Amino acid sequence: MARILVLYYSSYGHTAKMAEAVAEGVREAGHEADIRHVPETAPAEVAKAAGFQTMEGHSCIEGPDKLAEYDGIVVGSPTRYGRMASQMASFWDQTGGLWMKGALVGKVGAVFTSTASQHGGQETTCFSIITNLLHMGCTIVGLDYGFDGQNGVDEVKGGTPYGASTIAGGDGSRQPSEVELSGARYLGKRVAETASKLHD
Ligand SMILES: Cc1cc2nc3c(=O)[nH]c(=O)nc-3n(C[C@H](O)[C@H](O)[C@H](O)COP(=O)(O)O)c2cc1C
Repeated sequence: MARILVLYYSSYGHTAKMAEAVAEGVREAGHEADIRHVPETAPAEVAKAAGFQTMEGHSCIEGPDKLAEYDGIVVGSPTRYGRMASQMASFWDQTGGLWMKGALVGKVGAVFTSTASQHGGQETTCFSIITNLLHMGCTIVGLDYGFDGQNGVDEVKGGTPYGASTIAGGDGSRQPSEVELSGARYLGKRVAETASKLHD
C-alpha cells in the first residue's frame, strides 16, 4: 500500500476542497492518504483584512522532514500572480536539508491549483510547484487525458494535463465543480497507483 501526502495551502477554502478530493482518490484506490497544510505566514492583520479563513479540519505539517515519510507527495496551492503562494514556497525553501540527502529522490510528485479567472495562471502555477518537485528528484505524474473531464468546452472548468485545478471566480464565490473534483480524485488515484508500482 502506498502512503501519499496531500500538502496544501488555501486562503479561502477552494484548494482545501481540492485536497480532500485528491485524498479521496488515493483512498478509493486502496491506498493511504494524509492531508496536511503548510503554516500561514501572512501577518495576522493582513490575513484578517483579506478575510483569510483558517485551514480548519486539517493539521499543519510538523516540518519539512515529514515529507521523507511518504511514497508520493501531491502539492496544492492557489495562484499568486501566476505562481504558487509564498506560504507554500516558504515551506519548500526550508527543504534544503532534504535536498542534500536526496531524501525525496524517486518519490512520486503531483500538483493542483486554484485561480480566480480561467486564464489567471493555472498552468504556470502548476509548473512553479513542479519545478520544486523535479529539483527534489520526484517523478511527476500529471492529470493525463485518461481523465476525459478536462476535454470539451461545454462548461467553464479547470483541469490541465499538468495538474488538477479549479476556478474560484473573482470574488471567490464559485466552488470546485463536480468535474474539477473528479479530476482531483483521478490525480490522487494515479499518484497512488504509480507510487505503489514504483515502490514494490
Ligand atoms: C495576492 C494575490 C494574487 C493573486 N493572483 C492571482 C492571479 O494571478 N490569477 C488569478 O486568477 N487569481 C489570482 N488570485 C486569486 C486567488 O488565486 C484565489 O483567491 C484562489 O485561487 C482561491 O483559492 P483558495 O480558496 O484556496 O485560497 C490572487 C489572489 C491574491 C490574494
